[in-house]
Amino acid sequence: MKANLVLLPGDGVGPEIVAEAAKVLKAVATRFGHDFEMTEHPVGGAAHDLCGDCLPDATLTACKAADAILLGAVGGPKWDTLPPEKRPERRALLTLRSELGLFANLRPAKVWDALKGASPLKDEIVARGIDILIVRELTGGAYFGEKGRSADRTSAYDVTPYSTHEIERVARIAFDAARRRHGRAVASRPPKVTSVDKANVLETSRLWRETVTALHAAEYADVELEHMYIDNAAMQLVRDPARFDVILTENMFGDILSDEASQITGSIGMLPSASLGAAQGGLYEPIHGSAPDIAGKGIANPLATILSAALMLRHAFGLASEADAVEQAVSDVLASGVRTADITSPSGASSAVSTSEMGDAIQAALSGL
Ligand SMILES: NC(=O)c1ccc[n+]([C@@H]2O[C@H](COP(=O)([O-])OP(=O)(O)OC[C@H]3O[C@@H](n4cnc5c(N)ncnc54)[C@H](O)[C@@H]3O)[C@@H](O)[C@H]2O)c1
Repeated sequence: MKANLVLLPGDGVGPEIVAEAAKVLKAVATRFGHDFEMTEHPVGGAAHDLCGDCLPDATLTACKAADAILLGAVGGPKWDTLPPEKRPERRALLTLRSELGLFANLRPAKVWDALKGASPLKDEIVARGIDILIVRELTGGAYFGEKGRSADRTSAYDVTPYSTHEIERVARIAFDAARRRHGRAVASRPPKVTSVDKANVLETSRLWRETVTALHAAEYADVELEHMYIDNAAMQLVRDPARFDVILTENMFGDILSDEASQITGSIGMLPSASLGAAQGGLYEPIHGSAPDIAGKGIANPLATILSAALMLRHAFGLASEADAVEQAVSDVLASGVRTADITSPSGASSAVSTSEMGDAIQAALSGL
């Protein structure tokens, strides 16, 4: 297939890790006979330094026209003193999400066999396997509802609005993802969605539960559905994470649960994400930030960005075999003992490979070298 990809390297380690993901996408294109046209555009502090705007018009226009977008990270101390609305995180990330209508955020949280020791959970819990996909609603709920203060400023409110339309469209993404995962990593059990809410207290949660239940009955009876309260879900994530396959939840609960899930894997440099909307193929990025403390040193772990590229292949283009091949290459390279500094044991840090050596290793594994 032919696809037009926009690369947004951004700030800090962003350019270093995006370069490695581009290398891997080229290897995929060669092996599977695709034509990926990749163009880089400035974003974040780098764009601000260039033209005074963290999201230049030309970058936004290119993103809207792209089949999919791969982002490194934005932000850093140099731009922390800009007014809030001009800062990289707000101006670039939030504007991109709203302009592209990205209403669903997907975060896989997986413990790789070779990195089991990195999880802070007990060995016997990790041994049962952790491979979860969190699907979080991204453009509704309390973060976007009406908010305000009383005249005397001693009380405040944040309204949490949700409509059946908003709930249905993100639930559909979760059910479809559960079906797609079936037959891959979790083939041993039927596809399952755990819908997380607080329906014992909140009216929006009762609407959430009714809507998810109705959609499930009408279109996804082959997928197992369970409902769970948010407080129980937060507890089960550390007590028995193997019970989860796909977790579907609203914006604020998802914000908290996805950070909790990322921590149980033990390695921030390994975690990818996808933000999907109705229109184009979506935006893919590692969950970590621009890591200014290690920027320019060539030691950042590029695997979260490379795995984000795998999510892009799967979700934007339906290229399941290609995505599986990238994930298998990551698994094989880790199994062979290759590590960047962040995922070595403290005694092994001196033998760690560089960012580009890790990219080369994945490229070689993909090319069958
Ligand atoms: N989506 C984004 O672009 C995004 C997300 C989070 C933070 N940020 C911004 O990034 C900047 C730095 O934020 P922070 O320091 O709180 O979080 P961070 O994720 O950048 O770094 C946290 C720690 O993890 C390490 N780390 C992160 N990515 C790594 C990688 N790939 N390999 C090895 N180690 C890695 C860093 O060295 C640091 O010690 C801030 O300006 C913040 O606003 C951007």
